[in-house]
Order: sequence, then C-alpha cells, then structure tokens
Amino acid sequence: MTNSSCLVLFLGSVLRMTMIQQQTGKMGHPLMNLLRLNGTPILRQLQLEEKLLRSSSDNWCIINNGTDTPAIVMGVSGKPSELLEIGPVLRDRVPVIRRLTGGGTVFVDSGTVFITLICNKDAVPGVQPYPRSIMSWSGLLYNEVFRGLGDFKLRENDYVFGDHKFGGNAQSITKNRWIHHTSFLWDYAVGNMAYLKQPARAPQYRLGRDHTEFICRLKEYLPRSVFIDKTVESIETYFSVNPTSMEAIDESQGAEFVHSTKLLTRQELEEASASQPKTIGVGV
Ligand SMILES: *[C@@H]1O[C@H](CO)[C@@H](O)[C@H](O)[C@H]1NC(C)=O
Repeated sequence: MTNSSCLVLFLGSVLRMTMIQQQTGKMGHPLMNLLRLNGTPILRQLQLEEKLLRSSSDNWCIINNGTDTPAIVMGVSGKPSELLEIGPVLRDRVPVIRRLTGGGTVFVDSGTVFITLICNKDAVPGVQPYPRSIMSWSGLLYNEVFRGLGDFKLRENDYVFGDHKFGGNAQSITKNRWIHHTSFLWDYAVGNMAYLKQPARAPQYRLGRDHTEFICRLKEYLPRSVFIDKTVESIETYFSVNPTSMEAIDESQGAEFVHSTKLLTRQELEEASASQPKTIGVGV
C-alpha cells in the first residue's frame, strides 16, 4: 500500500468517527432536535412534519401547544362522507385536512396539544419499524409522563385513562424513518364533536359510546406546562435533546418531495356531501 492510500484510509476513519460523534450526544444517546411551537396552525405543522420525515436525516420532536386555526384532521384514507357531518362543516367553513399518516378523525383547536416524533429507524434500540413496535415504545414513554396520575393505558391505538380516550395516535413508516404523532385533548368544546360522525370502524373498547362519553380532558389530570415538561423529560431518557426554532429550519429543503398532506377544497366536500345519504323529514 502506498503512503498516500494509507493517509486516505486514515482520514476516512477520522471523518467517520467525527460523523458518529456528531450524531450522538450525552451518554451516547442519539440527538433529537426539539421544536416547541405555540399555536402554529395544524396545516403548517403537518406540512413541516412531512418535509422533515422525507428530507431530513435528523431525529425530531415537535411540540405544538394548540393550533390557532381550528380544523378537522382526517387520516390518509379518511372519507369525508363516512366521517364528517358535512352540512355543518360546510356551513361553518371548518377547514378539513387530510394528513399523511393513518388513524382516526379529530377536531383540533387551541385546546389540543400536538406531540410528534420523527425518527430514524435505528434511533431507538429495540424499536422495530412496525406500527405495533413504535406504538408500544411510545406507550412506555408516556407511561412515565402520566405515572401516578390515573389508570394510564395504551388501548389499541389510543392513550386512555381507564376507558376514556384523551390521545389519538397516527403513524407512517418510510424506507429509513418513521413518524409517530399524537393529538392530546388537553381540552375540547363539546359542540365541536357534532362535526364528527360516529365512525364505522372504532376501537372495540369504545362499545358504541358517543364522542362525549368516550373521551376525557387531560386538563382534569395535570397542568399543561407540567405535561409538556414531563414529556420532554421522558424523551430525554432516550435522546440527547437539542432545542431549535422554526427559523433555524431550512424551509427550502425537501421542496422536491410530493406532499400528501392536504387541505380539502370546498368542492371536494360538496361532492362528498352529494354522496352522503340525506335524512328525510327531519329539520336540523
Ligand atoms: C399554551 O397555550 C395556552 C393557551 O392556548 C397558554 O395559556 C399557555 O401559556 C401555553 N403554554 C405554553 C407552555 O406555551
């Protein structure tokens, strides 16, 4: 071997070690960028999440303390005619968004706290890139957050106290990465549940219960800031957390990706409404 090829090999391994060091922080935990937001509109948040999933190679946690713009968010395969009371949605001009992940339908507003984890497949030891594996791990993560506060459980894809849901989860898995995001019902207005139909596919433990008998408010259990701080603490047991800001994110990156997050048009909702069976002879 010539001297110069030895040098190249040596430099190559120095470079590789530096790269590995950059990806891990305290106690060898992988790095995770933490973006804390306050009232960012949910459409903007979901678009950012999709971009970070597809075009970043870092781990991310996004915590958004409510959306300034109330909206209905449906899963990737959600059909408005089956999930929404389209008449009232159109009448009140409620934005309807289809996100990139699966899962159920939710009405979100300033009382919803959103927590998103976007990770490389090898970021958490023991977590396989499959829905159940990611879900059980996040269940453990939140088990620490709610320890001593009530009968916290992961039931099917929901976070519950006993048999009352307060967190809905959705996921998407790509070749190298996954996203797991949760809408926490810190608070909700009963009236807004009237935009949502009783879904045909519901978790078994729902037992046909109406929205308001099925869900509960996280605010009955702990203060909002305590919830957020405890979540960050729990994440810190797996990651070395690096706070960042929206300004620090290069928004131009990932512009080439096709985005599946979308705001439904009024026309799409009207067409869905036309296919929805009408109740005859009942004035509402
Ligand atoms: C979260 O939002 C609520 C109101 O929507 C506000 O009262 C509270 O101070 C916010 N908390 C944080 C940690 O920003």
